Amino acid sequence: MTNDPSGPAIETSGLVKVFGETRAVDGVDLVVPRGTVYGVLGPNGAGKTTTVKMLATLLRPDGGEARIFGKDVVHDANDVRSLVSLTGQYASVDEDLTGTENLVLLGRLLGHRPAAARVRAAQLLEAFGLADAAAKQVKNYSGGMRRRIDIAASILNTPDLLFLDEPTTGLDPRSRNQVWDIVRAVVAQGTTVLLTTQYLDEADQLASRIAVIDHGKVIAEGTKGELKASVGAGSVHLRLRDAARRAEAVALLETALAGVQVQLEPDPVALTARVGDGDNGNGAAAQAAAALAELARADITVDNFSLGQPSLDEVFLALTDRPAGAETQEAAA
Ligand SMILES: Nc1ncnc2c1ncn2[C@@H]1O[C@H](COP(=O)(O)OP(=O)(O)OP(=O)(O)O)[C@@H](O)[C@H]1O
Ligand SMILES: [Mg+2]
Repeated sequence: MTNDPSGPAIETSGLVKVFGETRAVDGVDLVVPRGTVYGVLGPNGAGKTTTVKMLATLLRPDGGEARIFGKDVVHDANDVRSLVSLTGQYASVDEDLTGTENLVLLGRLLGHRPAAARVRAAQLLEAFGLADAAAKQVKNYSGGMRRRIDIAASILNTPDLLFLDEPTTGLDPRSRNQVWDIVRAVVAQGTTVLLTTQYLDEADQLASRIAVIDHGKVIAEGTKGELKASVGAGSVHLRLRDAARRAEAVALLETALAGVQVQLEPDPVALTARVGDGDNGNGAAAQAAAALAELARADITVDNFSLGQPSLDEVFLALTDRPAGAETQEAAA
């Protein structure tokens, strides 16, 4: 690893954190380029928060090393703290104060003069769609408003690196979209964002690179395109007219298209076939066409059909043999 301050925003090597019997973080290597959103994707208990806390100097690693803009999180912890800001599964705002009072207070703590703190607070409340709620106590905010004021509080001073730990967990779709817009705006100002999420579509929307973690280990890393390509060139999504014929359709497709994996969807008429570049050089579209022809020959009616890149859900399933968010047997026991 390098201590070059113009190097990556984050670089870790063999990072470990142990709680009793649990290796919460078990040898994590990450390189997070500057000026981007980097997604850390993993189910409950994967080790996301523990990783973030070590990078933000809130927890001391039990092994390995981590550098933030070249500064070591243990030996140069004070330098690191001046470069990072953290929001997420931690309280930063005071429930009894209003939106304005919170932001002005934090601005004052950061050394802004009173007038400047008030201007900055008003700007952020406006930008985050909280102007109407500025004079309300934060305890009366909805979940989405609360998340937005948390992020606003963490970017009072534009940090070089912002940790967002599951910023949209539990939010409705509209509030999630608002938070996503805020994240995009923060990155546009030059901040590097490390975003943890359990939502594959969130990583897909925001992140340029993604590390998938499970049981404290990075099980895949790359750009979205690379991760998707690792599970095949594309996916054919089919909806049949008749749920009773689904098993037959699966058998037919698996025989006709040797090597194609067919997956059942929760919807009883839906299935997904993952198609790659076949051995014979046929592309995904040609294989999809062959699949449709096969079903038509057997008189299985297809109501709906689409060909797309695999979703990150499918990537997770391919990497772990279980859907994202599903408990593992040990974890459930
Ligand atoms: N302070 C602690 N003491 C003991 N065990 C802990 C502690 N913090 C975390 N763990 C354990 O370490 C593992 C990783 O937890 P962590 O909170 O990092 O996961 P996560 O990926 O953030 O999960 P979530 O999506 O639920 O927030 C889990 O098995 C958890 O129970
Ligand atoms: Mg967590």
